[in-house]
Amino acid sequence: MICFDILTLFPKLCAGAFMESILKKAQENRLIQVRCLNIRDWATDKHHVTDEPPYGGGPGMVMKPEPIFAAVESIRTERSHVILMTPGGRRFTQELASELSGKRHLIFVCGHYEGIDHRVSEFLVDDEISIGDYVLTNGAIAAAVVVDAIARLVPGVLGDGDSARDETFSSGTLEYPQYTRPHEFRGWSVPAILLSGNHRAIQEWRLTQARQKTQERRPDLLKGS
Ligand code: ADE
Repeated sequence: MICFDILTLFPKLCAGAFMESILKKAQENRLIQVRCLNIRDWATDKHHVTDEPPYGGGPGMVMKPEPIFAAVESIRTERSHVILMTPGGRRFTQELASELSGKRHLIFVCGHYEGIDHRVSEFLVDDEISIGDYVLTNGAIAAAVVVDAIARLVPGVLGDGDSARDETFSSGTLEYPQYTRPHEFRGWSVPAILLSGNHRAIQEWRLTQARQKTQERRPDLLKGS
């Protein structure tokens, strides 16, 4: 069982991602636990203030350190790995998902506004992760992406048929095209080879298609192979 705790000012933003389908079932089956927690609940002042203007001036607001430290310290154990979601973090990949799937408790600290007081990065978290080179309004959306990618690697979360799909990145190529019934749709036919029953030829065709697609779209994945 892996426990995921997402600390955010907007827990409803990510909670929905875990209320349907595979990850809902994984929680029911006690393979994973996901909690979306509100940082505001750890703000102790009367108005539950969580952000202030930046020292030194500049636009926007910065998230205060105290509620974030209090939240993490109240749920952290020796087995926890604390991750700050930020566009400045190390890039999230299938390999990193696989590495993190070996942890027992992941705590995600999610920013909002212009940023988070830098002492969170310096003195609280173990890791910083970005899901890509673009800026989201909210780290909670990024955390939901990361939790999904890790959770599906937990044994039992996917059926056997689905788990083979990890091949997309672990095999170093993108996936070959898939087709299902009907064999003709609006005049577009399924490639004849897939109906041939010749498993070896089908295998070769899929390999060629996967390599071609990777060469066209993601030649960087083929480098070094
Ligand atoms: N918060 C805002 N943008 C982000 C990104 N690209 N990755 C992780 N957290 C973020």
